[in-house]
Parts: sequence; C-alpha cells; structure tokens
Amino acid sequence: MERVLFITGMGCEKCEAKVKAALEAVPGVSKAVVSRVAGEAVVTYDGTATDEQLVAAVSALEHYPVSGILDGNLRPESMERITTPALAEAFIDAQVDLLRKQIGDGSVLLALSGGVDSSVVAALLIKAVGKQLTAIHVNHGLMRKGESQQVIDVFEKQLGANLIYVDATDRFLDKLAGVAEPESKRKIIGAEFIKVFDEEAAKLSGIGFLGQGTIYPDILESKDGIKAHHNVGGLPDEVKLELVEPLKLLFKDEVRTVGAALGLPDSMVNRQPFPGPGLGVRCVGAITRDRLEAVRESDAILREEFAKAGLDKKVWQYFTVVPDFKATGIKDGKRAFEWICIIRAVNTRDAMSASIERLDWDFLEKVADRITHEVPGITRCVYDVTKKPTATIEYE
Ligand code: XMP
Repeated sequence: MERVLFITGMGCEKCEAKVKAALEAVPGVSKAVVSRVAGEAVVTYDGTATDEQLVAAVSALEHYPVSGILDGNLRPESMERITTPALAEAFIDAQVDLLRKQIGDGSVLLALSGGVDSSVVAALLIKAVGKQLTAIHVNHGLMRKGESQQVIDVFEKQLGANLIYVDATDRFLDKLAGVAEPESKRKIIGAEFIKVFDEEAAKLSGIGFLGQGTIYPDILESKDGIKAHHNVGGLPDEVKLELVEPLKLLFKDEVRTVGAALGLPDSMVNRQPFPGPGLGVRCVGAITRDRLEAVRESDAILREEFAKAGLDKKVWQYFTVVPDFKATGIKDGKRAFEWICIIRAVNTRDAMSASIERLDWDFLEKVADRITHEVPGITRCVYDVTKKPTATIEYE
C-alpha cells in the first residue's frame, strides 16, 4: 500500500532525512521516499500502520507541518491540471527528485514501445537516473513505417539511453503465419511480446525496479473493474521488482505537455492512438509479409498526406486497413487481381463511440491515387463511412 503525505517546511537534505527516519520507524512501513522539491513523502507500508500513526510520526518532529495524506493512487483535488510548460517543468523537477530518491543507485528496466506514455516515462527516467535505466524496445514487426528507427534515434542517439533494441519480426510473423482468427492473433502477439521481453530481461543482472507508463485513466479503470491494471510482461514471480510509475496521476493531455517539456519530438508526443498489436489488427485475416508491407506503406502515405493538409492536428485517428480480400483492377494496361485498401478517419472523445471525418473528396482521390500507384499489390481504395457503433474503430 502507498500513502502520500503532503509536507511543508522541509528546507534541506537533513530535514528530508529526519522525516524519512521518522516514517520508517513506524511499524509496518517498508520505505519512505521524501522530497522537499515535491513537498511529499511517499510511504510504502503493509497496512498495519494507520494514517494517524504516519501523520503523528512527522508531526512529532514539530517543524514539518503535514497538510494532507492521501492514497498514493488518488489524484489530490488540489493538483493543478498541467497545461503549460511552466507547470510541466515543476512536475518534472518534483518527479526527478522523487525518482532519484526512490531508485537511489539501483537499476530500472522499462519496456519502451515508442508510444506516448512509455516514451515520456523513459525521458523522465533518463533525466533522473541516466544510465541506471535500461530500456528494451521490442520491434514485433507490426510497427508503423519508421517507428522503431525513431525510438532508436530519439532515445539512443539523442538522449544517450541504455537501449536494447530487439528486432523480433521473424519470431512474431512466424508464430502468426496462417492464423486468421482475430483474438488468436492478439493472444499470440501479447504472449510473444512477454516472452521476448522476459528473455532480454533475464540477460540483465541487478535490476531492482520496473518502470511503467501507467496513467491516471488506467488507475481509474482498474478501480472500476473495467480493465486489469496493465503490467508489462510476466517476469518470473521470484523477480520482485519495485514499480516506478511517475505518470500515474496524470491525464493523457498532461502526459503530452510533460513530454514536450522534456524535449521529445512532436511526432512522438502528439501521435494518434495506436493499438498494442500494431498493424497486425489492420492486416485483417492471416498476416502475410507482402500484405503487411502494403498496410505499412499505405499508412505511411496516408499519414504524410494528413500532415501536409494539416489534418493530423484535427482528426483523432486515421489509418489504412488491407484485408485478405482481392478485387479485379487494371495496372499497366493489364488485368490485375489485387487487394483493396480501406481508409478510415474517425473522431471521438473517449473511443467508446466515434464519428466519421468528412474528408474532402479531392483529398481522398489524391490519397487513393498515390496508394494505388505507389503500393505494390493494391488496385483499389475505399473510404469507410461507418460510425462506432456499429463498427469498432479498429478492424480486429
Ligand atoms: P476499438 O477498435 O475497440 O478501439 O473501437 C478503440 C480505441 O482503442 C485502440 N485500441 C487499442 N489500444 N491496445 C491499445 O493500446 C489494443 O489492443 C487496442 N485495440 C484497440 C484503438 O486504436 C482505438 O483508438
């Protein structure tokens, strides 16, 4: 269990040490991370200690008034929404201090997908503990064009992270060969991801912490029983890693603001939602390498045209889908029996329902022209005009 005590009056390292010692002397408390920058003490305890005991331990020191105490997974009502670079900087300073104190000289492991949440956690951890972080990026072969390269460029080359890059494309695609059933595909991708991550983690020694990109909606949803609180991988039970979740009280827009303040590129911070199983759910039916390539290339063209037209800032999610289905067409004056590329662009607030973006006709024709002429295997494009419900946003 975790409690956060909000404490004022801590002016120096000695004050922090006194508060830490007082809290860790309370029976049942295993660890207290005290930061005067954050004005907080984060206390991990086994439930035998009471809130009154924790507050009393600090109050007994007299100089450090406790202004509140809260479950560590609850966002304080007084917490200001992070909407400006200045507020993001203050959050970053507090978290860097808390992370340094939590991690000490220990080592942290993080699965870095390249998505917004894990990228921001990685950037925060690099700022806080540098090379004590080892980030593992598993390329399952279902990433969008250029995505894994961007992870390498940003984290390894620009931020100097300890990055382990695993190109597991063949493993995933071999496991997925011939599997057409959507849930089976998702299960294979999820299970293989855990396997690859665990294999890489097992090669490391002395890891004490596991970084996670948990954000506040994840906490709220797991509280409401909507979904299990996500957890990376199935690290063996005997490996007891302490969780590091610096974004767990933030909403998505705040995570983006923090990411921008940390200097992450706009294309990473403001990227549209992308499902964990990646292009796998957009290569409908049994995945083949050639059709997967057609999804990747058509998606890249669509994204390029959206950005050129300024639609990337306006539309919530847009992508292409290439089902395992062919139709007759004409290419180079000859009959061609090739795939159909579906273009989808939707707007939503919460992804529970979605409306269709009414794209300009000339724009759609231009995109269709480019895709049918530039992507091998595609002779025809269609635009999906189906709202959610009845359709879901993704195809599988
Ligand atoms: P659906 O297709 O259910 O999607 O209407 C709603 C939103 O969730 C995204 N999505 C996923 N995100 N892992 C994720 O992180 C997944 O497995 C996954 N499946 C769907 C989808 O892109 C849309 O934004």
